[in-house]
Amino acid sequence: ALSVKERIDHKRKTALCGGGQHRIDAQHKKGKLTARERVELLLDPESFVESDMFVEHRCSDFGMEQDGNKFPGDSVVTGRGRINGRLVYVFSQDFTVFGGSLSGAHAQKICKIMDQAMMVGAPVIGLNDSGGARIQEGVESLAGYADIFLRNVMASGVVPQISLIMGPCAGGAVYSPALTDFTFMVKDTSYLFITGPDVVKSVTNEDVTQEELGGAKTHTTVSGVAHHAFEDDVEALLNVREFFNFLPLSNQDAAPIRECHDRSDRLVHSLDTIVPFETTKAYDMLDIVHATVDESDFFEIMPNYAKNIVVGFARMNGRTVGIVGNQPKVASGCLDINSSVKGARFVRFCDAFNIPIITFVDVPGFLPGTAQEYGGIIRHGAKLLYAFAEATVPKITVITRKAYGGAYDVMSSKHLRGDVNYAWPTAEVAVMGAKGAVQIIFRGKENQAEAEAEYVEKFANPFPAALRGFVDDIIEPSTTRRRICRDLEVLASKKQLNPWKKHANIPL
Ligand code: COA
Repeated sequence: ALSVKERIDHKRKTALCGGGQHRIDAQHKKGKLTARERVELLLDPESFVESDMFVEHRCSDFGMEQDGNKFPGDSVVTGRGRINGRLVYVFSQDFTVFGGSLSGAHAQKICKIMDQAMMVGAPVIGLNDSGGARIQEGVESLAGYADIFLRNVMASGVVPQISLIMGPCAGGAVYSPALTDFTFMVKDTSYLFITGPDVVKSVTNEDVTQEELGGAKTHTTVSGVAHHAFEDDVEALLNVREFFNFLPLSNQDAAPIRECHDRSDRLVHSLDTIVPFETTKAYDMLDIVHATVDESDFFEIMPNYAKNIVVGFARMNGRTVGIVGNQPKVASGCLDINSSVKGARFVRFCDAFNIPIITFVDVPGFLPGTAQEYGGIIRHGAKLLYAFAEATVPKITVITRKAYGGAYDVMSSKHLRGDVNYAWPTAEVAVMGAKGAVQIIFRGKENQAEAEAEYVEKFANPFPAALRGFVDDIIEPSTTRRRICRDLEVLASKKQLNPWKKHANIPL
């Protein structure tokens, strides 16, 4: 018989081999890395400290108790490590062991690291690659999911939670990523759905492939379930490392400050001419964002969904900031249902994790139409309004051109406790555009053109807002970066509290 030491060594070695070489080969053949290879790439070299390598499933039905059906560590690798020296907890589902399916033991391992992450205040990154509930374990496995969901909810707003989908994630399993702050996917090899193509066919008679139903393209362009898609495992993991650098470790931690080689007083002359002379002409808000932030480094969230609003992370003089901007290039930058929800969720993340918000405004209003009204634009638009209003992090707003109607109020206006609100000389703050306004207030009157000119003279400029102190200053666009960097320094000590409540009731 083997000595205890030999048994320990043997188990460790076995654990490192997951479900065995032929299953590892199969994983590689699909273009996927193994659970352990992924952890190695995600974390700083040698920083991974594994836990629960000896845990095994406890199922004794369907022959599961037999030797060949036990794998040390079961179907998930868990532990902690560092990304650029900063602490993070990780779980990585191992598809080579029972298809990465979730047993009671698998769930317990995940819960253990989540509990620790919350206690010490460090983010959790989940690498998902799983055939779902361990079928042999029945309700034990369902209980495991619920234990994880509960922790996802408890950790929400306490530590950042990131899900990377790197294989199947179906059925109840989808709700863990859905509860986390950010869900990233790998193109062609990952999918997320409640029920697969076969069930869809039998219930609704629709023919749909896995990829169409729940692939990366679907979720990053149509459903808005995922925030980014990457080409392959390696690109995805390296991008998560980059992304992680923007985030604080917990809600008790300030957003990280990185050494900055881009001068904070840099004038950005291109911005002086970026807004076209004609007010109906489009320009790219991303150009403004790239020109303004440190080293043009902008990590856009949901770049291919609701493109009429731009959201993402950047740095100003080394400090992480959240950027929100209307995009005049898409639907004239109108707010609609999807862009409101996209913006609101982003603003709330920033507020929960002490990340200042910089808002660039060029918005002609909310998108009209039955599709929007029937879809509940009132309810959904309210989310963005609510998110900006409740946010107590530093809020800086720059009106580059239009700020019309209710959308003016929504977009981090002074009235919603904007700390510093700027207007560029091209700003127009009004109830609506000149043409529409004149048609209503001078209906049927002659000299429409004259009335329009009068309206433009009166409203199509920053003065009505500036006269009332609704913008703090009218600034040369080229000075925008310098102003924001200085403001953020001052606002770093901002303290603002909302009234006590059990929790708020954002319109859902
Ligand atoms: N429970 C237990 N074992 C599972 C499992 C599950 N939910 N899902 C997959 N496995 C096992 C398979 O039996 C297989 O075992 P083996 O290597 O010993 O042969 C292994 O994992 C790989 O699965 P396989 O079906 O060969 O891989 P695939 O890439 O062809 O298909 C899935 C992957 C996920 C599409 C497929 O396994 C599947 O449909 N699984 C069930 C999904 C489900 O309905 N889960 C319950 C919903 S919550």
